[in-house]
Amino acid sequence: MREISRNVICPGTQPFVRDQWYAIAFSHEVERGKPFARKCMDEPVLLFRESDGRIAALYDRCPHRGVPLSQGRVLDHAVECVYHGFQFDRTGRCVLIPTQEHIPQAACTRSYPVIEQMQFVWIWMGDPAKADAALVPNYAQMGCSESDRAWRFEPYFMMEIKANYSLLFENLLDTSHISFLHIGGIDGGNMATAPYTTSTDGSVVTLERDLKRDMAVPGTAKLFSMPAGQVFSRRLRSQSFLPHLHLISNTIGFPDAPSRAPHVRLNIMPITPASRNHLYQFVVIATSYPVNVTPDMKEQLWTVFVQDRDTLEAIQAGYDAFGPDLREVSVKADAAALSARRILARLGQAAGEEAPLDPA
Ligand code: FES
Ligand SMILES: [Fe+2]
Repeated sequence: MREISRNVICPGTQPFVRDQWYAIAFSHEVERGKPFARKCMDEPVLLFRESDGRIAALYDRCPHRGVPLSQGRVLDHAVECVYHGFQFDRTGRCVLIPTQEHIPQAACTRSYPVIEQMQFVWIWMGDPAKADAALVPNYAQMGCSESDRAWRFEPYFMMEIKANYSLLFENLLDTSHISFLHIGGIDGGNMATAPYTTSTDGSVVTLERDLKRDMAVPGTAKLFSMPAGQVFSRRLRSQSFLPHLHLISNTIGFPDAPSRAPHVRLNIMPITPASRNHLYQFVVIATSYPVNVTPDMKEQLWTVFVQDRDTLEAIQAGYDAFGPDLREVSVKADAAALSARRILARLGQAAGEEAPLDPA
């Protein structure tokens, strides 16, 4: 195995890390009685709810002739294949073959451990024996609490991006782009030069920026529920929990009204690889202050995220075309993103997946 350095990792082809919980859907997306299909790590996955509300996840292929089970019917405690009516329970075991009594042992499909928490359905694609429920992310870990009535939690949207998941972690840890790609949308232009610190603790990479005094442009004002022109301070913490989750925390203070409680807004964003060059980014927004979420607030954030999506897809297209021959030059502000890149490559290698390396 070659030693990994920042110069030899190709972020467009980073490997999967299977032994971890990944968000595969918002809880509300999986309705009773309806099959729900999504991909994770190149595997087709069927999610369904049993009549008691419990959620189940199966490899989405019937072992008989390979028809996606998601094209079938959801029954009380099984899913029925649309083609010949074989039925499968939550463990993937075939429980009925309409044309015979004997059920061959091989007539089963893979099942995956799943848990619902923080408004998401989390799936474990790796060794089921290692699927420890205590490892599922929770609100307390994010710095907010469901039982604290001051906090509000709002599922925003899921963004699909045709890029390797490493590119999104790197993008989210690269906060200098906010002042350029998103100017006017979520920043007035001062973030790129605000002082910052970076740190790494295990597989958690953190970048913090401190803006002592700024003036709210209309986009920032709307985002943080304050009037345009408001003087505010902003502490931005961007934190990758590799390989499956990113948290952005904005603490907005009011320097001209020091007794006023700060506004804390969290973007809780699980990141899931659908394939090597395709990811899902889920977004739940948690706020410590009252906010009436309107459709245009979601649209505002969607517009910003589309800017990131289009940029990352353009970068990925370069990796798809040139592989590790696509050269890049890094600067100091890229330190946190490069840490995440190295950690993801190491996690992949530790899991037995070889990170594709640049021969340079
Ligand atoms: S293909 Fe599913 S029952 Fe035949
Ligand atoms: Fe961005």
